[in-house]
Amino acid sequence: MLSRKDFIYRSAMSVLPLSLAPAIVRCSENNVDAQDDAWINMRKQFIVSNEFINLNNGAVSPQPYPVQQAHEANLKLANAGPSYFMWRKLDQQREPLRKRLAALFGCDAEELALNRNTTEGLNSIIAGLTLQRGDEVVLCKYDYPNMLNAWQQRAQRDGIVLKWVELKLPEESADEIVAKYKEAITPETKIVHVTHVLNWTGQIMPVKQIANLAHANGCEVVLDAAHSFAHIDFKLSDVEVDYAATSLHKWLCAPFGTGMLYIRKEKIKSIWPAFASPDSLTGNIRKFENIGTRSFAAEMAINSAIDFHEIIGIQKKEERLRYLKNYWCEQVKSLPKIHFYSSMKKEYCSGMATFGIQGIDATQIDTRLMNEFKIHASVVKVEQLNGIRISPHIYTSLSELDVLVKAIKTLSA
Ligand SMILES: Cc1ncc(COP(=O)(O)O)c(C=O)c1O
Repeated sequence: MLSRKDFIYRSAMSVLPLSLAPAIVRCSENNVDAQDDAWINMRKQFIVSNEFINLNNGAVSPQPYPVQQAHEANLKLANAGPSYFMWRKLDQQREPLRKRLAALFGCDAEELALNRNTTEGLNSIIAGLTLQRGDEVVLCKYDYPNMLNAWQQRAQRDGIVLKWVELKLPEESADEIVAKYKEAITPETKIVHVTHVLNWTGQIMPVKQIANLAHANGCEVVLDAAHSFAHIDFKLSDVEVDYAATSLHKWLCAPFGTGMLYIRKEKIKSIWPAFASPDSLTGNIRKFENIGTRSFAAEMAINSAIDFHEIIGIQKKEERLRYLKNYWCEQVKSLPKIHFYSSMKKEYCSGMATFGIQGIDATQIDTRLMNEFKIHASVVKVEQLNGIRISPHIYTSLSELDVLVKAIKTLSA
């Protein structure tokens, strides 16, 4: 039996191409300690630009080389005879793939539709729910803008009422968060919309407690799991929501433009699909897949991303992402001009974190990070936040984070 470490190493060696374009390097590290060996080998599975240090992996993840290979092989096959190979061959893998994804997400395969991303999944739900004028939806200003737009469109079009929960980030008490949702719920509330991990700061929301509260008040729960799936260790069956969607091109490292949508079995019937199907009010989840021609090559390469994810295991992956977050945060959190919009407590923060520097606008910090340190990160300017989100991935090396630490020390001096 190969150990996990050996497996990662051997597969890295077997899949890497011998020559790569000049702007792209096969990365290796010399200056991290021996305990990091397995992760150094993991890094060899990724082909990353040497033009900058990518600390914005939360936006979209690079795919490890085996996933790229599977995707390219599928594309070649599809191009050899598109209608035959796409519809009659690649698409035949859909049902087994549905089962694998359902097992990972923690639901029944009959509750899961494959689609292109979280935006598509949650828009299907938000537009497809039957709501009456005056019905209320509880949400917060830190939910993702695409979803806020979708709810605002329904408010404008159908006269539903949006009730806003005021969060002060970082939030570090589940009871206090739940109390804020409780305060916003009235007898008119039909839906509570929650984001599991807030993209702005990596804040983890107490979804199960919020879902329990919502259900106790007769409301349904819509979950945005874009940043929690394949990042933190959870199953849908643990959080008990009614609807959820995620993107597989984020933490699962699947091809760009792949996602999935969950709907609790008994609710499928009552949701109108955004793209009509022969029987729009059937209880068959596949009605949400009637979206016309798309890339089956990308969809079926999700299998390879699941293989990769399962070799590591979600516990190890989450542990590593948290380790990387703590590694840089611990070194800068006490600097006089640095403040964090993210919690340092495990229950309330994921592998991403957002900092600000007193007296410097986030856009300016971002520009200096790139110009002076070749660091690509994400500007967070929303509500009261004015900071930089750092989102490393499992291929991120400690020496790259050392550059970040040096940059923050310099900029805040
Ligand atoms: C919380 C959250 N929801 C939804 C999305 C949208 O994801 P996509 O563009 O893949 O639909 C994002 C993207 O960053 C996000 O952070």
